[in-house]
Amino acid sequence: MKASIVLLPGDGIGPEITQQAKRVLEAIGDRFGHEFTFQSQLIGGIAIDETGDPLPEATIQACRDSDAILLGAVGGPKWDDPSAKTRPEAGLLKIRKELGLFANLRPIKLFNQLIDASPLRREIIEGTDILFLRELTGGIYFGESSRTGSGPDETASQAMVYSVREVERIVRLAAQAAKGRGNRLTSVDKANVLEPSRLWRQTAARVMAEEFPEVQYDVVLVDAMAMHLINRPSDFDVVVTGNMFGDILTDEASMLPGSLGMLPSASLGSGGPGLYEPIHGSAPDIAGKGIANPLATILAAAMLLRHSLNAETEAAAIEKAVADVLAAGLRTADIARGGPSVSTDAMGDAVVDQIKQ
Ligand code: NAI
Ligand code: MG
Repeated sequence: MKASIVLLPGDGIGPEITQQAKRVLEAIGDRFGHEFTFQSQLIGGIAIDETGDPLPEATIQACRDSDAILLGAVGGPKWDDPSAKTRPEAGLLKIRKELGLFANLRPIKLFNQLIDASPLRREIIEGTDILFLRELTGGIYFGESSRTGSGPDETASQAMVYSVREVERIVRLAAQAAKGRGNRLTSVDKANVLEPSRLWRQTAARVMAEEFPEVQYDVVLVDAMAMHLINRPSDFDVVVTGNMFGDILTDEASMLPGSLGMLPSASLGSGGPGLYEPIHGSAPDIAGKGIANPLATILAAAMLLRHSLNAETEAAAIEKAVADVLAAGLRTADIARGGPSVSTDAMGDAVVDQIKQ
């Protein structure tokens, strides 16, 4: 297979970690006989510094022409000036919008070798492996807002809007993902109170009955889900939900494994290139020190292979290599719990070596 991949290293530790993920993809290319071509483009603070624009037109064009995009992170104190015309994050929001990326995928997987990093007791967190799909371009965050009146009568509103089409497409993606995993899908809503949730629930149930009768399907209310995530996280397989509920639940869930530097994510649209990135930020406090954990970005590269290049075997090879280097005792400082730690490069080397074997 041939594939062209755009790298958006961005700011802070972004360049250090995307470099390691690129090396891992090259190793996969060598082992499985694929030809990956890479080009780096500007996004975020560095793009502001060099062009005045957090998402230059050349970056958008390169992304559109690519098969997939791998992003590091954007932002940092240098660009935090509240009076600045534009911010690094604007580049990230714009690229998601330009590419119509309506689904955010966040796997919350506990690596057993890191079980003691979790804030939860071992017997509760053990076996946790959830894939969240959050709707990303609709719902209340994009609803019409207004402010009227003044003084104590001043009121503000923001509309939550979902269409059947929006619900169908994300539920289909989630159901397809479930078929490749544990074959179970949970839809989270607030249908006891909210009208858009009732449309969501009705639509999801119809799609599942008509198109995915073989996938085990259930629904949970969002407030109950917030409790279940703490109480019995290992009971869930794939979870699909709207934009705001997904924002909150995925942040809650990302704390469960206790290792931010290990968690990847993907943003997908219909047909075009997907965007893959770690869930953590640019970590300016450790940038340039060579100690950042590259595994979240390396695992994002595995998602890229799985979801954009249909290369499940290759994706699984990366995930196995990561599990193997952890089993061998390698830790970057963030997951070392005070024990011995290795550099960003050494961690990348170890994963590359595993893949070559
Ligand atoms: P952060 O995720 O960058 O860092 C939080 C803490 O985790 C820091 O102590 C950091 O050193 C550590 N950390 C994060 N990733 C790590 C890794 N791979 N290896 C080792 N340690 C790691 O979040 P923070 O500090 O709130 O934000 C820093 C900057 O990143 C801000 O400018 C923020 O706006 C931006 N940001 C960007 C995101 C993105 O590009 N998608 C997402 C979140 C924040
Ligand atoms: Mg959030």
